[in-house]
Amino acid sequence: MSSARITGTGSYLPERILTNEELSTIVDTSDEWIRERSGIAQRHIAADGETTLDLAEHASRRALEAAGRTAADIDLIVIATTTPDQIFPSTACLLQHRLGNVGAAAFDVQAVCSGFVYALSVADNFIKAGSSRCALVIGAETFSRILNWEDRSTCVLFGDGAGAVVMEASDKPGVMSTHLHADGAHASALHVPAGVSQGYDAVQEGRAFVEMRGSEVFRMAVAKMGEVVEETLAANNLDREALDWLIPHQANIRIIKATAKKLRMGMDKVIVTVDRHGNTSAASIPLALDEAVRTGQLQRGQLFLIEAFGGGFTWGSALIRY
Ligand code: UT7
Repeated sequence: MSSARITGTGSYLPERILTNEELSTIVDTSDEWIRERSGIAQRHIAADGETTLDLAEHASRRALEAAGRTAADIDLIVIATTTPDQIFPSTACLLQHRLGNVGAAAFDVQAVCSGFVYALSVADNFIKAGSSRCALVIGAETFSRILNWEDRSTCVLFGDGAGAVVMEASDKPGVMSTHLHADGAHASALHVPAGVSQGYDAVQEGRAFVEMRGSEVFRMAVAKMGEVVEETLAANNLDREALDWLIPHQANIRIIKATAKKLRMGMDKVIVTVDRHGNTSAASIPLALDEAVRTGQLQRGQLFLIEAFGGGFTWGSALIRY
């Protein structure tokens, strides 16, 4: 059976940077509070008219180039996003056309901040089953569009961006295991109440934006990330020392540090982008992964762990040989 190997990575951040100082002129907050509670110093915000599809396209083209592939080589496109361009078609189908691919399977995955781990797991299983040989997996978000810019407890935390990987069937080791979980009992702790099927009343009432009970999410995130990391190591019969890198979802530096502590990993082995990107939801891990690759931190043959927690609640991890 082939393994699914990451052969190229790419990412894209919108040009506009929104600093904490600038935010403090919009809502009652301060650079000090945001840095202390979350580790965030700035985030990128998509320009007017710039959409999730645009961000995904840039990141995808860079990943394809890094892999030495063209769009025609791709037989599967999976985009993790909570902020699709349209209700339908999926952003994956829109991207397929933009890239000039015809015929690949294309669909979106919705698992909010855990979306990229879910999408990567789906592609891994397609490849292992022999249903795909060359997959494009993307996390892309314009979370700024679903933020209430009058709610200081949420609008300071998120940003926009996209990251992508090309995954190919290979005889060499790649994805070693993936672990996905969810618990819908906590839906209201982190959600956008507006939807399609229940009508647009919530939109009329101004509730088409992220609502979060932050400290409840924080506690669960720390607990579940710790659990899933243990689960991943046990499933692979691995000691923590075997890991070269931790590439966590970038929601809050305090959550990242808690997971690193659990793994007894020094922060020099953890890729951190939350200070510059904020929480870009499904885009955060592939953005951090691409940074690790392009800065030369993550080297071929090294072992890294990705893990995420988000709305749903959803959480998950993947152990990957690069
Ligand atoms: O991506 C996955 C999903 N998201 C997460 O993982 C995020 C999880 N949660 C968190 O990261 C943290 O809970 C936050 C960063 C959101 C908040 O940190 P906290 O230490 O849990 O603070 P808190 O919610 O307990 O709020 C403390 C105080 C409150 O004031 P009082 O009631 O103590 O007087 C808030 O009103 O901070 C106040 N506050 C702010 N003050 C200045 C909330 N937001 C702000 C703000 N600026 N932006």
